[in-house]
Amino acid sequence: KLFIEEIDCKGKTVIVRVDFNVPVKGGAVENDKRLRAALPTITRLADSGAKVVLMSHLGRPKGQRVEAMSLAPVAARLSELLGKPVAFAEECIGPKAQGAVNALANGDVLLLENLRFHKAETDNDDAFAAELAALADLYVNDAFGTAHRAHASTEGITRHMGTCACGYLIKKELDFLGSALSEPKRPFTAIIGGAKISGKIDVIKALLPKVDTLIIGGGMACTFLKATGREIGNSLCEEEKLPLAKELLELCKGKILLPSDYLVTDRLDFDNRTLGDCAFVGEDAIVAGQMAVDIGPKSVKAFSEAIAASKTVVWNGPMGVFEIEASAKGTFAVAEALVTATENGGTTIVGGGDSAAAIEKAGLADKVSHVSTGGGASLEFLEGKKLPGVEALGAPAA
Ligand code: 3PG
Repeated sequence: KLFIEEIDCKGKTVIVRVDFNVPVKGGAVENDKRLRAALPTITRLADSGAKVVLMSHLGRPKGQRVEAMSLAPVAARLSELLGKPVAFAEECIGPKAQGAVNALANGDVLLLENLRFHKAETDNDDAFAAELAALADLYVNDAFGTAHRAHASTEGITRHMGTCACGYLIKKELDFLGSALSEPKRPFTAIIGGAKISGKIDVIKALLPKVDTLIIGGGMACTFLKATGREIGNSLCEEEKLPLAKELLELCKGKILLPSDYLVTDRLDFDNRTLGDCAFVGEDAIVAGQMAVDIGPKSVKAFSEAIAASKTVVWNGPMGVFEIEASAKGTFAVAEALVTATENGGTTIVGGGDSAAAIEKAGLADKVSHVSTGGGASLEFLEGKKLPGVEALGAPAA
C-alpha cells in the first residue's frame, strides 16, 4: 500500500476519509479520542502544503439530514486541537462543497458535512463516489474505525482516484493488530468478554489456535458455565450456543480460562445504574433468582496473574457491567493487569468499543501499548477478515 509519507502533496488537494464518528451532546464533542488519533495525518498533509479536505460519517442518519448528527461541532473541536481554523462545508458534495474546496489555500483544512446524510454513501453508490473524488487530486484513508465498511468514501472512491494512500492511524492499527496475530511474543493471552457469545464467536475461533491462554469473562462466561452443567440462575445465557460452548471447552481443555467466582445480584437496573443485594459466590454456587454481573476476587487474581505474565495481550470486551461502579472491579482489574504486562515488557492491545471505553474510564489508556480506535473494525480484523477500506488501497508498496 502507498503510505502517506510517500506522496508529494504540495499544492495538491487531498481528500481524507477520517472516522470522526464521536459522541456529540449539546453541540459539543464528548470524547475526542478519534480526532486526536487523526492529527498526525492531518498535520503532516497541512504542513507539507496540501489543501486538506476531511470527510467522515457521524451516527446512522440513514440518508436524512439530522441536525444532531452534524459534523459542525467536530470542526470546532478539531480547530482547537490543531490550533488553527478548520473550515466547514454544509454539504459533502455539490456547489457548497466545491465552493469551500476552491476557497482553500495551501495548508488549510476543511471538514465536509456528514457523508451519511446521503444514502448513496452506505450504498457505495458509484456516482456519489465519483463526486467525492472530483473534489480532490489525491485520496488518503485514515478511517480505521470504518475500514470494515465498503462504502463510497472508503471503497468506491478508490476507483475514481489515481493516487490512494494509507494514513498514519490505519498503519499504526494494522501494525499493532497485525503483528499480534502473525508473530506474537509468547505467552500470548487473549481476553474476550462482553454480553454475548454470538457477537464474539468468530474472534474466539480465530484466536484459539494462536493463543496460549484464552480468558473468557463478561456475560458470555455464563453460557460457558452452563455448558459445564452448572446452575446460572437469571444470568445471561444463549441457549442455542450451549453445544458450541461445550465443544470449544472440550477441544481446548487447558487453554480456556473461565471465572471461578462471580459477583451476583438479584436486581440490575441499568438505566439508574444500580444493583440489588450483592454477594461473591463460587462458580458452583449461583442459585435461582441471582444473576452474575462481574467476576469475583479469585478470578481477578487468576486472570491478573496470567495477563501480567504475558508478552502479548489482546483484550476485547468487559468482564462485567462496568458502567455500574459496584460491578466494574473485574473489568478495571483486567485494565490494571494489562498495565503491569506493559511494564513487564509485553505488547498490550485493547480492541475498540466497550473495552476501550473501560480502559479510558479507568484512566489507564495511556499506559498500554495500543488502544484501537475501531470497535467493529478491530473485531473483524482479529477474526481474520479482510477490511474493504484497507483492501481498496491496493497491494503493499514494494
Ligand atoms: C464505529 O463507531 O464503529 C465506526 O465509526 C463505524 O460505524 P458504523 O458501525 O455505524 O458503520
